[in-house]
Amino acid sequence: MTAAAPALDRLDITDVDLYHSRGYPWREWDRLRREAPVFWYERPGHTPFWAITRHQDILRISRASDVFRSTRRLRIYPEPLDSQIVQARLEEMQKVGMVESAPLSFIDMDEPEHSQYRRLISRFFTPRAMDRRTPLLRDVADRRVSLLERLLAESGPDGVEFVDTVAVHVPAIVLFEMLGVSEELYGKLLQEVDDAVRASTARARREDADRASFTIESSRVAQIMQAALEQRENAGPGSDCLLDVILRAEVGGQRVSPRQRLAMANMVLFAGLETTRNAIAGGVYTLLTQRDQLERLRSDPSRVDSATEEILRWISPVIHFARTAVEDFELGGTEIRAGEHVGMFYPSANRDEDVFEDPYRFDVAREPNDHLAFGGYGTHFCLGANLARWQIRETVRRLLPVLPGVELVGEPVWQGSLHVGGYANLRVRLAA
Ligand code: HEM
Repeated sequence: MTAAAPALDRLDITDVDLYHSRGYPWREWDRLRREAPVFWYERPGHTPFWAITRHQDILRISRASDVFRSTRRLRIYPEPLDSQIVQARLEEMQKVGMVESAPLSFIDMDEPEHSQYRRLISRFFTPRAMDRRTPLLRDVADRRVSLLERLLAESGPDGVEFVDTVAVHVPAIVLFEMLGVSEELYGKLLQEVDDAVRASTARARREDADRASFTIESSRVAQIMQAALEQRENAGPGSDCLLDVILRAEVGGQRVSPRQRLAMANMVLFAGLETTRNAIAGGVYTLLTQRDQLERLRSDPSRVDSATEEILRWISPVIHFARTAVEDFELGGTEIRAGEHVGMFYPSANRDEDVFEDPYRFDVAREPNDHLAFGGYGTHFCLGANLARWQIRETVRRLLPVLPGVELVGEPVWQGSLHVGGYANLRVRLAA
């Protein structure tokens, strides 16, 4: 540590404006991993929590889901937004007559309910399910990248917007097809999801949070999703899409309530779109700025699997998830008390020098690559991990012949919250 380094209690790892202007707080995370890997983070404007920055500690917390619960809080936001969200969740649960252990969607649940609900749709996300849809994905990736090529050929020095042309649509078209959302709702739903993400990002950076906007009724995305569910219901049985399975879902012999069905469909949508889009956009940005790695990959496309894992490690689109301890728990010599919150910072774990050799080197052939971009292998491990990997891989594979002839136009803009972030736009043009 240099003499000028601020005291640990002055480090800032939660100011999203800083993420926006300077990028992720890599230096701060590095220091916390070294000096205080389980660090009591208490700042004005924040509910205090333990900041968890090491790979091994995130693994332990994620696997101890009997102690570290999801129901109470899943994310950390600045106050007063944070308390308002926690309160709104509680009210939302009470409204549907839920006990605290069974809120609306399974990402917020604890065991045993969490697994009962997750199981309802998990077969859609297995490698076999992906194999069945590979022709569709290849076709979508091919169509979007062909469009990019055409637009690049027609465009001048201002180039083409990569995110809107490719990165948004590959995950969206495939996920909407899996869900069974009709084509007529595609554009509208995509626009509303985008608006909702932008609004929640803006809200997370503003003091005057609007409480009404946390309820499912207030969400325009939920309204369209409701229309999509109704369309499926009216179409009758016969198809095997996610919405049909959600419509028929039963737990313990009882049909899942309409609000929970809607919440489940909504959760899948939000969990799957922004994250994968950010991984694809971030991966392309990294390959275009680390040309030696692009060249290594292009000269040996069989590295696309390891390159996908490295993009996930490097970009880490999900920044944190939170949990609340319900019992005292000893972690790396520190006592976490019942009732206290923890925030797990996945990008920090993905630069942990105890796990990754030379962690600040982007290496398309890195092996092993035990990154935690999808979480710490607990019961909540990302349900869409196979889907996301497969989409990133096929998109990068299709882009490989195109990227060497392309360059960035200016620097991309980062957009996000403390929970999820990435490049919202990325202009590219044909290289001179
Ligand atoms: C690059 C893309 C993605 C990243 C980085 C990512 C990351 C994550 C992370 C970190 C978690 C929490 C894990 C934990 O708490 O241990 C999670 C959970 C989840 N993800 Fe993803 N995700 C991605 C794509 C997707 C996709 C494409 C879908 C589905 C369409 C999806 C659906 C979910 C669901 C449903 C959960 C909750 C699982 C549960 O609570 O059991 N994710 N994801």
